[in-house]
Amino acid sequence: MRVLAKGIIEIPGTTLNLIITEGEGIKIRQENRNFIEMTIGKKSLEADINNDKYYGLVCDHIIPLEPSNSHSENLLRYYKEKVLMKWAIESSKLLVSEYGSLSRRIILSKEYFLLDHYRRKGSLFIILKNYFKILAERSLMNVDEDLLAGSLNALISEGYLKQVKYDDKFALGHKALSHKASYVRVFLGSMPYLGLLNLRVDVKALFHMISFLALNIRSDNILLVDLEEMTKRHMFLETDSGLIPFSTPLPMEQPYEHIRRLGGIINTTYLVKSNLDNELCVLKKYHEWTDLKWLPLALWALGAYNFDASAKRRLVNEYSMNRELKEKNFKVPKVYYISLKNKFIIEEHIEGRLFKDVIIESLKTGKGLEVIEDVLSEVAKVHNHNIVLGDANPTNMIVAEDNNVYFIDLEQAKYSDKYSWDLATLLFFTAHYIQGLSLENLSEVLQAMVNGYLRYGDVKVIKDALSPLYLRVFSVLAFPHALIKTYVDLRRMVLALSKAS
Ligand SMILES: Nc1ncnc2c1ncn2[C@@H]1O[C@H](COP(=O)(O)OP(=O)(O)O)[C@@H](O)[C@H]1O
Ligand SMILES: [Mg+2]
Repeated sequence: MRVLAKGIIEIPGTTLNLIITEGEGIKIRQENRNFIEMTIGKKSLEADINNDKYYGLVCDHIIPLEPSNSHSENLLRYYKEKVLMKWAIESSKLLVSEYGSLSRRIILSKEYFLLDHYRRKGSLFIILKNYFKILAERSLMNVDEDLLAGSLNALISEGYLKQVKYDDKFALGHKALSHKASYVRVFLGSMPYLGLLNLRVDVKALFHMISFLALNIRSDNILLVDLEEMTKRHMFLETDSGLIPFSTPLPMEQPYEHIRRLGGIINTTYLVKSNLDNELCVLKKYHEWTDLKWLPLALWALGAYNFDASAKRRLVNEYSMNRELKEKNFKVPKVYYISLKNKFIIEEHIEGRLFKDVIIESLKTGKGLEVIEDVLSEVAKVHNHNIVLGDANPTNMIVAEDNNVYFIDLEQAKYSDKYSWDLATLLFFTAHYIQGLSLENLSEVLQAMVNGYLRYGDVKVIKDALSPLYLRVFSVLAFPHALIKTYVDLRRMVLALSKAS
């Protein structure tokens, strides 16, 4: 059979020679411990690229190949490009299945696509984990930068990837993002572990060879860091202090000094100081829902709002919705650092007054109503983007010294049309804060909320906020007389507004 191209891979202890010929089939020849020759027919190689005929195990050896002679270069290049594109498409789709809505914010370096492929292979064929690690390492060493960049750029024009403002980095394109989660199952289903008993002769030979090579690798030749970890170092999220990898070797580069705990019942939020520039920051650590304090809130809200419980999802919400609101020109704290692995986020510390304190002050003095109007009008603007804050209680907004309104707790925020839930939260928390105070300014405060909201919002949202479902949820929060007065006042306002229009 005519030889089309030749290449070699140095695997510790062995040299693997790979020969691509015309025709079909796989042949393996082992001269001694240190020399293995694998001959692949062009048709078989292409069937593995196009249909995973050999479970991609032939493709896995293409990228790390070094051409044995100059006339092998072009053909190897051609196949390498095909393999790289195939892997990058697979990885992109799987990223969407794994990270859901966050996937559109993930930024990837070129190397990600190589590492992710071998990472997945290693986790499917567990006993060959170290072997795939070696192939990953060889691939990183031998891959031609231009070829890798070229393959990924081709996927930009196909819509799988998207250019970002960072050099040599990529985000997912619309074609990958529109992919449905079922892909994972399809992919895993195509890996026939159980079918191994019934393998064709050529596949058996291939497995035989790989197992031999894998067993030959001495553990001192294996990279210490694992592939999972390495892959995550090539995935990034954008923050206000640049790109943050999904995984960095701890301890963090920029240590923070603990100052004190801040309020908040759901997470543990700390005021910290950066040792780098002495700036005050907020570190928010997310706990699992097993935390008891969550339970009552969840029970109250049962059916009223669909809360996200898992720590990871809440962190992802906080980050993604912070970015969404920022892009829409709302005021949110800068994000300096995010760790999905250790479930915390570090943000800018906003100087100012908690909206809760603003409300209490107005309930006491009847003054400062224009600030309340401003906050509510900001909430209405958020709603106009089809975003609900989810936990709009007044400890989650800060009125800064320049009177800008900051949204600081976005872990339950999402795209939704349950605007009335936010309004109910804001209005009924006011009834909660009046405890121990005289009721004389309550109507003015509520009126200011309604007026502020109506600058950009719809009266129907306020009307819906008075639904019995919400009333039941919040009846645990406030004394009945404050709650009833709040309800009666608001009904009156809504009725007056409906009549006027
Ligand atoms: N970026 C920030 N700037 C200033 N204070 C903050 C910031 N983030 C949180 N806080 C303070 O910490 C409290 C708790 O934080 P929050 O994010 O609301 O956590 P929780 O989910 O536990 O309510 C807030 O009510 C506020 O007083
Ligand atoms: Mg909060």
